[in-house]
Amino acid sequence: MYKIISCTLVVIFHVSVTVGKYFRYDPNTYTLLQCDQCPPGTFVKQDCTAGQRTECAPCPPNHYSDQWNFDKECQFCSTVCKELQHVKQECNSTRNRQCECSAGHFLDVEFCLPHSGCPPGFGVLQRGTPESDTVCGECPKGMFSNVTSATAPCQKQINCMNLGLKVAHKGSSTEDTLCEEESRFCETDIGLCEEALFRFPKAAANWSDVLIPKLHPTVLTLQQIESIKQSYEPTDWPFYLFKLYKSQSKGDNSVRNLVQDINDCEKEILKQIGHLPLTTKHLISLMQSLPGKAVKKKDIENILKSCVRPKQILKILSLWRDKNGGNTIEGLKQLTTNRLPKTLRKAMKRLERFLSGVSVYRLYEKIILQINGAQSQLGKSDSLL
Ligand SMILES: *[C@@H]1O[C@H](CO)[C@@H](O)[C@H](O)[C@H]1NC(C)=O
Ligand SMILES: *[C@@H]1O[C@H](CO)[C@@H](O)[C@H](O)[C@H]1NC(C)=O
Ligand SMILES: *[C@@H]1O[C@H](CO)[C@@H](O)[C@H](O)[C@H]1NC(C)=O
Repeated sequence: MYKIISCTLVVIFHVSVTVGKYFRYDPNTYTLLQCDQCPPGTFVKQDCTAGQRTECAPCPPNHYSDQWNFDKECQFCSTVCKELQHVKQECNSTRNRQCECSAGHFLDVEFCLPHSGCPPGFGVLQRGTPESDTVCGECPKGMFSNVTSATAPCQKQINCMNLGLKVAHKGSSTEDTLCEEESRFCETDIGLCEEALFRFPKAAANWSDVLIPKLHPTVLTLQQIESIKQSYEPTDWPFYLFKLYKSQSKGDNSVRNLVQDINDCEKEILKQIGHLPLTTKHLISLMQSLPGKAVKKKDIENILKSCVRPKQILKILSLWRDKNGGNTIEGLKQLTTNRLPKTLRKAMKRLERFLSGVSVYRLYEKIILQINGAQSQLGKSDSLL
């Protein structure tokens, strides 16, 4: 008899019983009752009767129920965290204790395994979590990874050209590109931005007022300053003083901001010049197009052999300047262009425009502001440079 009923019950349950109810056969009245279920965190303390609703009671400590239920007791907080696991969430009345693999591990079926490292040539696309392993990806062109690591993504190959250097050894997916050490010969003692800055029309007087008094107490002697004043026109003083200052103040950190701004400007100059493929003939024609004495052919060949492309032009201009007691910017203004190949002509025009343009003026303003600002903050007696 009971068996038949309960069989029918199953069918009814699936078809029409509302959620949160359960059926109970009341042995006193022989009727089938629909009792309320108990919510998560509680259990059925007393089934309903014809006259009374279900009585629920909270789970006792260390027990939980995680669903609407008609259980007579809560479940025991049974989970125990294993080796390499820690408790992620302590047991509460509605949820069993939850464990999680400790840092650097993930759950593989049942055990916590260390996150895999991506081998050289591969980088981490997605770091591992307590639930998932590391996702690795092959380093694309221009990137590399030379380590086995569960955290390191592929890195960009160094770009020698951007640093103004030649490639010594091309990199691969497993090693970085190696740049060639720059030959000392290719360095110039003073950059075109520095020259432009200290020769800026109308700025000379301000440099003399603001900068020169700051330069001399620390690095330059009075004699040196006198000697420059006797050898050059007043408009050239700031340029030669700064040139001398620069050569004598290597490693002086107090002008780091100034130097950083100027370096950014010099990088911009490399961009203006670009990476023209130059020949001896091109550079000889450049020398013929500038006023004054030309740089020797032997030096030109040496430049092409030792220096990277944008610096080839900087070096030849600097040798030209030294030979002609010079002012590069004035020289570029007097450049005759009919002998020059078109690309070189364009690059020299761009350079000339940049050097007398608004970028250099902004840099000048910024530096004057910096110096003035620092001066008024520090008071007159402090030396900025
Ligand atoms: C029990 O913990 C779970 C998280 O694991 C949380 O969502 C739930 O609200 C907690 N219950 C109580 C009654 O605090
Ligand atoms: C990996 O490459 C970097 C950058 O070139 C280098 O500093 C490092 O020493 C290399 N490490 C190994 C293990 O080769
Ligand atoms: C020179 O400095 C003075 C103030 O010291 C300023 O008024 C003037 O604008 C500056 N000239 C230039 C060209 O920056």
